[in-house]
Amino acid sequence: MTLPAFHCPTPLDMRRSMGRFTTGVAVVSADDGSGEPSAMTISSLTSISLEPAILLVSLTQGSRTTDAVEGSGRFAVSILSSRQEALARRFATRGGARFDGMPYDVSQSGLPLIQDALTQLECRVHTAHDIGDHRVFYGEVTDMRWRDGTGLVFYSGRFGDFLDFGHDQVPWLY
Ligand SMILES: Cc1cc2nc3c(=O)[nH]c(=O)nc-3n(C[C@H](O)[C@H](O)[C@H](O)COP(=O)(O)O)c2cc1C
Repeated sequence: MTLPAFHCPTPLDMRRSMGRFTTGVAVVSADDGSGEPSAMTISSLTSISLEPAILLVSLTQGSRTTDAVEGSGRFAVSILSSRQEALARRFATRGGARFDGMPYDVSQSGLPLIQDALTQLECRVHTAHDIGDHRVFYGEVTDMRWRDGTGLVFYSGRFGDFLDFGHDQVPWLY
């Protein structure tokens, strides 16, 4: 197949081309004290620094969750397992109280966390800045826990689950 000519990207080009970069899926949650926590599905989760422990999330400007993170200076992250595709869809659908009618865990400082997520952690906002149409938050991780399982992945607009090649040496985890 011949590659198309290089061209300046439209938003759809960005979505389609960067969609070829397989990611995990997480839910970021925050509570601005208004009585109802907010949360949204994200794939823009990146580990930035190990010591101190700092990660990055990039949230669309104008979202309730973005405003709640900004207002409270804290956010929580739940990394989803392959059994949690329905939750990923729920937290990416506009409107409605997303935690309504579902049980959830609570972090040390009271933020909602997705039950049975592979990793649950909470952060204090270290730095934030606007880039294009998103606001990027660097979070200093203050608490975390994780468990084994299979990760939910997102590729080209579709969900799947992580299948490894069966090699059992993972030196970068030690
Ligand atoms: C797999 C997946 C990953 C996403 N990643 C992000 C992300 O990193 N940042 C973001 O702002 N929106 C992301 N979205 C879109 C938001 O989840 C979606 O727009 C959501 O409705 C925004 O919340 P709001 O309706 O409260 O504004 C993602 C959606 C999906 C399905």
